[in-house]
Amino acid sequence: MSDARRKEILNELGLIPLWRTRNNNFASSMTQVSSSAVDTTNNRHFQIFNSDWDQLKASVASCTVCSLCQARTQTVFGVGDKNADWLCVGEAPGREEDIKGEPFVGPAGKLLDNMLEAINLKRGKNVYIANIVKCRPPDNRDPDHSEAQQCEPYLTRQIELIKPKLIIALGKVAAQNLLNTGATITSLRGKLHEYSGIPLIVTYHPSYLLRIQSDKAKVWEDLCFARNTMQTML
Ligand code: URA
Repeated sequence: MSDARRKEILNELGLIPLWRTRNNNFASSMTQVSSSAVDTTNNRHFQIFNSDWDQLKASVASCTVCSLCQARTQTVFGVGDKNADWLCVGEAPGREEDIKGEPFVGPAGKLLDNMLEAINLKRGKNVYIANIVKCRPPDNRDPDHSEAQQCEPYLTRQIELIKPKLIIALGKVAAQNLLNTGATITSLRGKLHEYSGIPLIVTYHPSYLLRIQSDKAKVWEDLCFARNTMQTML
């Protein structure tokens, strides 16, 4: 079994990083396995958290930590202004993003561009766009908890480097992962949250909005809330 797979299993079972030494042979042999997995994880995190943009991009491009790497055409790192005040976080690349290597380029992306334009923003200008996971999940399913967790250090580092003033979480997956909650999107909308000290606002995912157009008014409310929140910070 590869180290990455072992780490994935231990992580999924909740055995790392909390494994503790016990006084019997079985446990100590397992401790060896888990402590090497912990070392690997810690080294990886250390490298990521000390990366500059180019190093981070290279790490993402070569990542094989979870099984999403197997079916991807390429990783989808993120796009936009590296010094943006605004950060939009989606869920995961879809088919078109996987092909182009850029987030939100399909129909949902066009809608996202329109949403941004509604508050006088433009992709690439004071806005950065990223996803919770950097590889396309098969059949566009939601990324699972373990995939999101393995990918989290990349987004964390992107956020550290960008230092946005405001984060917009697009949809349930982004909101739940960034806020570390299982709460519904309905209960998360309309409130000012925080991610590592950065204000965060939740709205519906553009793909959802393509299906349920009647909720466009709610997204408009969320965008106005975001715009007003930003204005108080300028
Ligand atoms: N949906 C997302 O959440 N992200 C993308 O990049 C594209 C579609």
